[in-house]
Amino acid sequence: MCYKNSFCRLYFKFGKEDLMSDKTKSRGQFTSSLGFILAAAGSAIGLGNIWKFPYVAGKNGGGVFLIFYVLFLLILGLPLIMSEMALGRKTSLNAIGTFEKINKKWKFVGFIGVVCSFIILSYYSVIGGWVTKYIFSYFTNANVAAPGYFDNFIANPVEPAVWHVLFMAFCCFVVCFGVAKGIEKASKIMLPILFILIIAVVIRSLLLPNSIKGLEFLFVPNFKEINSFPKFANVITSAMAQVFFSLSLGMGITITYGSYLNKNSNIQKDSVVILGLDTLIALLAGSAILPAVFSFGESPTEGPGLIFNTLPKIFDKMPLGNLFGALFFILIFFAAATSAIALLEVVTAVFIDNFGWSRTKAAVIMASLMAAIGVFASLSFSPVLSGIKIGGKNIFDALSFLTDNILMPLAGLLTCIFVGHIWGIDNASSEIECGSGKFRIRKIYSVIMKYIAPVLILIIFIMGFVSI
Ligand code: PHE
Repeated sequence: MCYKNSFCRLYFKFGKEDLMSDKTKSRGQFTSSLGFILAAAGSAIGLGNIWKFPYVAGKNGGGVFLIFYVLFLLILGLPLIMSEMALGRKTSLNAIGTFEKINKKWKFVGFIGVVCSFIILSYYSVIGGWVTKYIFSYFTNANVAAPGYFDNFIANPVEPAVWHVLFMAFCCFVVCFGVAKGIEKASKIMLPILFILIIAVVIRSLLLPNSIKGLEFLFVPNFKEINSFPKFANVITSAMAQVFFSLSLGMGITITYGSYLNKNSNIQKDSVVILGLDTLIALLAGSAILPAVFSFGESPTEGPGLIFNTLPKIFDKMPLGNLFGALFFILIFFAAATSAIALLEVVTAVFIDNFGWSRTKAAVIMASLMAAIGVFASLSFSPVLSGIKIGGKNIFDALSFLTDNILMPLAGLLTCIFVGHIWGIDNASSEIECGSGKFRIRKIYSVIMKYIAPVLILIIFIMGFVSI
């Protein structure tokens, strides 16, 4: 029986405030469906879409990569995002509490997600700091396109660490204001601006000579790119890993944000919209960056340095380039900040729910700890710590390998097994249906969650080790 539907009716009859328990009031709640969608889309849309997607697509054959990316979005991304949202809304608890409430023995899965969020934010904020520095540089007319500008900046032991701490402080400030007044409000401002800015940059980029080559590269599949097994394996594992990273799966983010939802929210529709927005921004970022790269004869396969090294050179050569450079880094800042805020919220929520800490205390203490660890990640690009290697990688790369290749797929795999076999498809489906009507893809969802997704994720997991 879907008792939740009667809850939904009561909800409409008496209004939100009357049915909100004291606990809900103190935890916070999104005030509107749009607010939730923007906050959740903001958590997904981040450096992964704008910084990572174009270069990963560039390295993996453009259009061919895109086919697999879309495929994995549908068979892995959609079912998982729905499941995480349903889990959070069902329990109204943080990621650890959610697993614990349904089955005590599975509490550790939530724990992995929270630890993963903690580690990701410590190094994600370092890149957030680089982006902030670039905005500042454009505004102060520094010669960002000068040879060695980026390499010298990241090799400096102090400056990048200071920008990283400032970026973390900004995110902490927003989280301290709470779910509705902080996270929701910030997302409602930042995401629409991001959208307008990215369209402006896409238009500018498409007006460049030969820009069509960049679009062809991104959208027209070239099957030569997968004519050997290692190449093929690389493209599919990169596509799967990118779907995970971009949708922030297995991290407890969607569970935590889902816990601030009320029962009349439409999980099916919201999941599709969030996934659609995330993909749209990745495609727009590709359509902004790759045409410019091709137009100026640069290489699309440069990797992580693409936006910090290659793009400033391009902006420098184009009319109104400084303006577009500044706008571009502002939009990346908004994308990175909304994701970083979500990561901080995942960890903060645990200390509010489980330890009874005030929001401010939890956010400030956790942000400070992450900032401290991030300083080591930042220093790993400078001579101070660049000599320290863990498994052949510097501290930054080792942290990112640990989260992207090990913890995220592991938490994702366990979440699928948990939903498919422990919580059960019946419970998950009835939560998904509450507030959104018949779950038409229930049968496919069931097969995916029980069998297909665990096997696919296991493949990324194993490939992650093989690629060491
Ligand atoms: N999804 C975010 C992005 O695309 C990053 C992120 C990854 C955030 C994992 C949280 C967890 O940049």
